[in-house]
Amino acid sequence: MELIEMKHITKIYPGTVALDGVDFSLKQGEILSLLGENGAGKTTLMKVLYGMTQPNSGEICYKGEPLRLRSPIDAINKGICMVHQHFMLVPAFSVTDNIVVGAEPHKGIFLDKAKAKREVQELIQQFHFNIDPDILVERLSVGEQQRVEILKALYRKADVIILDEPTAVLTPTEVEELFVILRQLRDSGKSIIIITHKLKETMELADRIVVLRDGRLVADDVRPAEVTTEQLSSLMVGRQVDLQIRRPAKNIGEVCLKVENLTVMDHGQAKVKNVSLEVHAGEILGVAGIEGNGQTQLLEALTGLCQPKSMALTLNGEPLSGACDVFIHHGVGHVPEDRLAMGLVKEMSIKDNLILGYHRQDRFCGKGGMMKQAAIDGYAEKLKEEFLIKTPSVNAPVSSLSGGNQQKVIIARVFSQSPKALIVAHPTRGVDIGAIEYIHQQLIDIRDSGAAILLVSADLDEVRTLSDRIVVLYEGQIVSESMPGELSEVELGLLMTGSKPAGKGETHA
Ligand SMILES: Nc1ncnc2c1ncn2[C@@H]1O[C@H](COP(=O)(O)OP(=O)(O)OP(=O)(O)O)[C@@H](O)[C@H]1O
Ligand SMILES: [Mg+2]
Repeated sequence: MELIEMKHITKIYPGTVALDGVDFSLKQGEILSLLGENGAGKTTLMKVLYGMTQPNSGEICYKGEPLRLRSPIDAINKGICMVHQHFMLVPAFSVTDNIVVGAEPHKGIFLDKAKAKREVQELIQQFHFNIDPDILVERLSVGEQQRVEILKALYRKADVIILDEPTAVLTPTEVEELFVILRQLRDSGKSIIIITHKLKETMELADRIVVLRDGRLVADDVRPAEVTTEQLSSLMVGRQVDLQIRRPAKNIGEVCLKVENLTVMDHGQAKVKNVSLEVHAGEILGVAGIEGNGQTQLLEALTGLCQPKSMALTLNGEPLSGACDVFIHHGVGHVPEDRLAMGLVKEMSIKDNLILGYHRQDRFCGKGGMMKQAAIDGYAEKLKEEFLIKTPSVNAPVSSLSGGNQQKVIIARVFSQSPKALIVAHPTRGVDIGAIEYIHQQLIDIRDSGAAILLVSADLDEVRTLSDRIVVLYEGQIVSESMPGELSEVELGLLMTGSKPAGKGETHA
């Protein structure tokens, strides 16, 4: 029997039909993967199911009964929970406190702390979550925080758990651990809906695949065993996409970006320890590593966002130091790690975000400081077309864009400035395969036009296909340097966790 049936759901935003009469159903005990391009309507459909947004028309049936959701509280009470990409945990609280907050057991008028702890402990054991219930959330890795979010849903007796791009921020090992947990939940009768842009993961995990395109349902009963990833990508974007093509650099030039003795302290701890790096003109240097091993600090030092304890940096032989506007002025482009915190001003329009940091250039700003609106409009329209930013108007606030389209705004802004050096973090996080192909192509074109590119990515496939040289960052140090193809995915994975692959290091006797 269908556990959930959503019938003819339509959701209209000003200028956009986000959902156009979508029928969607979910069975008990299945893992359903929801696929579609950026802006296809995946998040919107799930927000409707979670009571976060009201559809213009359509209805929902739950266990055969009509369901009216006025807010997420109604959904949670019915056993429908959603884990968002930006976790909503309190860092200074323990795991247990985060899980029970708002749903604490009581003994009379008092909180029953002992009972809360016991119940959380039981859940952790039942589903093998491997997490300490007393530890403070601020001390957990991203993957562990996500498990706390799932525990929170289970504690509220969720029958349906919705995960919106849960693997985007996880390491390969964490993804595997998450999948083990999700399969256990399914086998115990829960239903899981997972949104992801990673087709490999969908093929591995899903029982059934549903595809949305432009707010419409294009397929709702695809079985992973019966399709190839190529067929899936054609369903999503309407054409073939191949992300595995390597295009090695042909014209590697002189050293462009040279970093020596970089040490960055954070709260009294060295996060980057005496790192030296060189990136040549026309070369992509990939930095592989698990997040939290100094990537953030490395990126900040190379873009003027933090003052390192020590660093000698040169760009084409000239010393470079100062704040980020100096770096921008000298042609160092930056695609930041966290697009919401660092890359975009949410309240501002898409067009203003497209020139953010570059708005003082003569072509956008006249002598008296007057902005040249017509020039800005024309420029924004051009980038919107080129980078496939899906919006009815570049005057709309950037916050109205879907997640992947927000990322495209940053990429468009930085890539269009013909940078001499590019510091790029997770360029395709949350971006659909069609756009990944486009962004990869752009990165290669910028490289071939002579820029030096430093690429930090948690996506090993991405690092391996794009890089001309790969270093591994572990605990603030570079522990390996290799050419693409020299080390396998497994070997790189081992180096990222601090072990040395057999036969590749001095530990081999
Ligand atoms: N609050 C809003 N105001 C205006 N338009 C919106 C709003 N939220 C979403 N939209 C629009 O609705 C459409 C669907 O957005 P949605 O976030 O559901 O896409 P998505 O499939 O989740 O994409 P992504 O893969 O990029 O996360 C997009 O065109 C988006 O711009
Ligand atoms: Mg989304």
